[in-house]
Amino acid sequence: MVGKVMQSPRTVFVCQACGAQARKWLGRCADCGEWNSLIEEPLSALGASQVSRPALTGERARPYADIDSFDADRLTTGISEIDRVLGGGVVPGSLVLLGGEPGVGKSTLLLQVAAEVSGRGRSVLYCSGEESPQQVRARGDRLGVSASGLYLLAETCLERLLEEVDRLSPDLVIVDSIQTLFSLKLDSAPGTVAQVRDAANQLLFVAKGRNIPVLIVGHVTKDGSLAGPKVLEHVVDTVLYFEGDRHHTHRVVRAVKNRFGTVSEIGIFRMTSTGLETVRNPSQQFLSERNADVPGSVVLCSIEGSRPILVEVQALVGSGSYGNSQRVTSGVDRQRLSLLLTVLEKRAGLQLAGEDVFINIPGGIPVHEPAVDLAIVAAVASSLRNQPVQAGVAVFGEVGLAGEVRGISQPSLRLREADQMGFTRCVMPAKNQSSGKVVPGCQISGVETVKQALEELFS
Ligand code: TYD
Ligand code: MG
Repeated sequence: MVGKVMQSPRTVFVCQACGAQARKWLGRCADCGEWNSLIEEPLSALGASQVSRPALTGERARPYADIDSFDADRLTTGISEIDRVLGGGVVPGSLVLLGGEPGVGKSTLLLQVAAEVSGRGRSVLYCSGEESPQQVRARGDRLGVSASGLYLLAETCLERLLEEVDRLSPDLVIVDSIQTLFSLKLDSAPGTVAQVRDAANQLLFVAKGRNIPVLIVGHVTKDGSLAGPKVLEHVVDTVLYFEGDRHHTHRVVRAVKNRFGTVSEIGIFRMTSTGLETVRNPSQQFLSERNADVPGSVVLCSIEGSRPILVEVQALVGSGSYGNSQRVTSGVDRQRLSLLLTVLEKRAGLQLAGEDVFINIPGGIPVHEPAVDLAIVAAVASSLRNQPVQAGVAVFGEVGLAGEVRGISQPSLRLREADQMGFTRCVMPAKNQSSGKVVPGCQISGVETVKQALEELFS
């Protein structure tokens, strides 16, 4: 064959969800199965030659013992709930990604962090690609920000941002959001895989190279996962999710990845007219609107990270119409509810066939730990019998398929919290009964089966 040389394509289709590449457009990514996620990007944008790389540092391997731990020089943000989630403050040189739905309060939270940090005499560069400095300033006025070390930059160009970081050499950089940044070196549009990846890498070099912590806002997709390539989550040290319903005042910051702390801690906030407020006593907060005399309301002591929190579980059981009974949950797993209802029918003899069952955790804090089982069971039974659970009783324990009540973690922590909040009796797994010693004023009813628990509660 002489003559014709196959022209190599100058564009490629890149899945915006996983970063996989395809020669032609596909309705569905062959790699991750996401629909309609392929976008045409110039091939050059993805070429390694264009993406800047850090200079070699010539660093040598050092003995383990000579290496300092960084715990001492964490930068505390001054917002206790954020410090808690981060594991005690921001580690210098770390990259933290904060994801959340539009309007949940990401910009508000980071502006408050910026204000607190700069109020302590550190300099902060707040780069917003989404809002003008006037808009940020207007929000800041609402939040009562009055800081001298805070610099605002409304910029979407990555190179300009890096120049400003060089010039100011701040103690903290905030980028709102990574999806709006673009590098002049790449031809792709902002928010595409190539751009997001390059911006994340460049920010990583800055963070690690200059030992500056960088907080980045990331958008989430419709299904709630972080928008952009998975590589973004791999590059950063910490991934935080800001959750909460725009219609509720409570907001929760949860770590899903943290190289410098545990991922089980949560931070709880309340959105007010003057910004986000930390919630100091969540148990009190969540129980403040509870009406204890209503059937179907049960309080459980759940553990979130290292902190016990009392939450209310509400159940409503009513006869379903036309034979399709509904099972609807908010804040707990729906399949878990189905399982527990079957256990109630089979092991405790409750008649639930044909009944609609609704479970709700008011306040907007989901509970996903096994100790919630017994509280759900008790709430359903209470609603079905139309008999309230006695005031001052807390219920918790895991329920097994045989109808047995299984032991749970950290019982003493839970008991102490219940005691402090004025609960006088706890129905809990018999296996954990010995922990009752920590609360002499609280009566402990250890139960071995679901049936026994219901007898304790309703006889
Ligand atoms: P914002 O931080 O802009 O959300 P995000 O950056 O995650 O998109 O917050 C938006 C919402 O927060 C907005 O609906 C108004 C509300 N809000 C308050 O209720 N109080 C306040 O003090 C501020 C600044 C915002
Ligand atoms: Mg915003």
